[in-house]
Amino acid sequence: MDNRIEEIRKKALKQIEEAKNLQNLELARIKLLGRKGEITALMKTMKDIPKEKRPEFGELVNQAKNQIISDIAKKEEKYKQELINKKLESERIDVTLPSSKVKRGSKHPLNRVIEEIEDLFVSMGYDVMEGPELETDEYNFERLNLPQGHPARDMQDSFYITTEHLLRTQTSAVQARTLLGNKEKGPIREIVPGKTYRREDDATHSHQFNQVEALVVDKDISFADLKGTLEIFMKHMLGENTELRFRPSYFPFTEPSYEVDVSCFKCNGKGCNLCKKTGWIELLGAGIVHPNVLKMNGYDPDEYSGFAFGTGLDRLAMFKYGITDIRLLYENDVRFLSQFDRMD
Ligand code: PHE
Repeated sequence: MDNRIEEIRKKALKQIEEAKNLQNLELARIKLLGRKGEITALMKTMKDIPKEKRPEFGELVNQAKNQIISDIAKKEEKYKQELINKKLESERIDVTLPSSKVKRGSKHPLNRVIEEIEDLFVSMGYDVMEGPELETDEYNFERLNLPQGHPARDMQDSFYITTEHLLRTQTSAVQARTLLGNKEKGPIREIVPGKTYRREDDATHSHQFNQVEALVVDKDISFADLKGTLEIFMKHMLGENTELRFRPSYFPFTEPSYEVDVSCFKCNGKGCNLCKKTGWIELLGAGIVHPNVLKMNGYDPDEYSGFAFGTGLDRLAMFKYGITDIRLLYENDVRFLSQFDRMD
């Protein structure tokens, strides 16, 4: 009898020993302890055993059963732990690895130039203003001393939307808006960066381009103020050695009017291909605000005077960064734009 128990016990422990994984272990458990298992079957033979031997038999079977249960539990615990370890290992992350690079956008060269100009003029007490790009004939021309049929309108080939509305050809349109809109009729000091539109399209002209306008109106504003301001502006943008040249010109809204050239910053005025061997680069229109403009927009020209200038931001950005085709500024090609990442 003892031998039978001992035999089953040994066989059982061997089976447990040999179970390679949790499934095998479970199979062994069913085979030994299940309803039709060997230990269960052994228990069932109890009734065939003489009465006095039964306690001893029962105890031996129980001992074997407990050992089997405990061996299975130990092994099960071992395999479960192995599985957990395997899972942890496979999910392990190296927190010291460098992260994948996030692509950063870069500031558009035009925005760089605009921000630089805004910072400079705000530091001198100017307001930064804006106006609509879809403008009326009234503000774009009439209130700037350019009535219907004025020949100077030909200087700016315009996109008309209706007979009264057009895409503004110049940020000067905001001059009239500010003057007229200023209820106190007090001093004005503003710059207006913004998009402008003309019917032209080649390597140096785009149908959409950007200007920055400046308007200063106060008592006793003179040409000296204009000249001093432009000197500060141009030296700041293009370098301390930049020199200015004022050539007489014509704009209906300023009198006198000037085209302002800057000394070529590439050759320092000696003459090169950038300045077409002249040593100078044409950059701005400027002048003393025409008394008619002040009058038409509610200011008394006997009391107030002013200066204004306007410059193409695209040209300025092109000179500053050595860009040769204006269209590059509007094509949004990242290969072009990302170069300016490294310029700060
Ligand atoms: N608006 C003019 C242009 O676009 C430039 C300008 C501005 C001239 C202000 C004089 C005063 O050509």
